Amino acid sequence: MQVIDGDILAISRLVYELCGLTLDASKGYLIESRLGDIAKTAGCANFAELAQKARSADGRAIQTAIIDAITTQETLFFRDQSPFDTLQYKVLPDLIDARAGTPFARRLRILSAACSTGQEPYSIAITLCETLPDAALWNINIQGVDISNAAIRQASYGHFADIEMQRGMKPHLMTKYFQREPGGWKAKDELRAMMTFSRRSLLQPIADMGPFDVIFCRNVAIYFDAPTRRELFFRLADRLTPDGCLFVGSSECLVDLGPRFAPRHHCRGTYYQPCSADSNVLSFPTTGPLSQAIASLASCR
Ligand SMILES: C[S@@+](CC[C@H](N)C(=O)[O-])C[C@H]1O[C@@H](n2cnc3c(N)ncnc32)[C@H](O)[C@@H]1O
Repeated sequence: MQVIDGDILAISRLVYELCGLTLDASKGYLIESRLGDIAKTAGCANFAELAQKARSADGRAIQTAIIDAITTQETLFFRDQSPFDTLQYKVLPDLIDARAGTPFARRLRILSAACSTGQEPYSIAITLCETLPDAALWNINIQGVDISNAAIRQASYGHFADIEMQRGMKPHLMTKYFQREPGGWKAKDELRAMMTFSRRSLLQPIADMGPFDVIFCRNVAIYFDAPTRRELFFRLADRLTPDGCLFVGSSECLVDLGPRFAPRHHCRGTYYQPCSADSNVLSFPTTGPLSQAIASLASCR
C-alpha cells in the first residue's frame, strides 16, 4: 500500500498522540513498510482510513499494533558498555557508601525507561550481581517500562534468541545468568526475581513511580520533539533521589536543559545528577571506603 496525500498528516498526528514520535513528510517509506500490513488486515483502503479506525471506539487493538510496528526497538546487551562500567565502578559504590548506616542501606531502585525487549534492564541486573556478590540479600528492584506490548512481553519472559545473545552478552555471563532453552536462552530466576516490567508510555504522568536511585533513559528521547524531550527529562529528574543518577544514550546530552542536570564524568562514561532549583548539586560523598577500594581496583577501560 502506498502513502497518498493526506496519509502522512493523519498517521503522524495519531503516532504523535500515541507515543510522542515525530514522523515528517520524509517518513512515507516508514509508514508504508511498517504499517502496510496492519492497514491491509484492518481492511483499510489507505493510511488515513487506518488512522480513523484506530481512533474509533473499538480501535484499541489497532493502536497497539501501530505502536508495536512504528517504534524502533533496536537494543543490545551492554549497549555502549561505558554506562555499565560507570554503574559498576562509580555510581553503585558511591550510592552504597552514601547509604551505609541509613534505613536505605541495601536497597536499590532502578528504572530502565523505554527498556525495549529487556536487554538494557537485564544488563543492569547482571552488573548489580557482578558488583554485589550477596545481591540476593539486597532489596533490589529494577523496573523496565516500554510503550510496546510486544517488547514488554519478551522482556518479562526473559527469553533471548541466540542471535540476540550474540549481540553484547559475554560468554561467561551468558552461562552464569541464563539457561539453555529451545531456540535461545532464558534468564535465571535469580535475575528475574529482581525485575518487574510494565507497559507504560513515558508521555503519561510518572509521579506514582520511584523514587529511583538510578534511571536509564537511553535512545528514546532522540525520537521526540524538543518540548517533549525536555519535559520527559524534567519529569524523570523529579523521580530521582537527590543523590540519584540518570544515564542517557551515547549520542544524547542534557546540557541544553540548563542547571537542573549536572553532568558527571567517570572514565568514558557520563551521567547526570539532579540539582535543586536554588542550590548547587545535591552531592553525596564520593570518597567513602567502598568508592576508594573499588576505584583503586578498577582502571578505566
Ligand atoms: C531504540 S529503543 C531503546 C532501547 C534501550 N533503551 C536501549 O538504549 O537499548 C527505543 C524504545 O523506546 C520505546 N518507546 C518509544 N516511545 C515510547 C514512549 N512514549 N513511552 C515508552 N517507551 C517508548 C520503543 O518501544 C522502543 O522499545
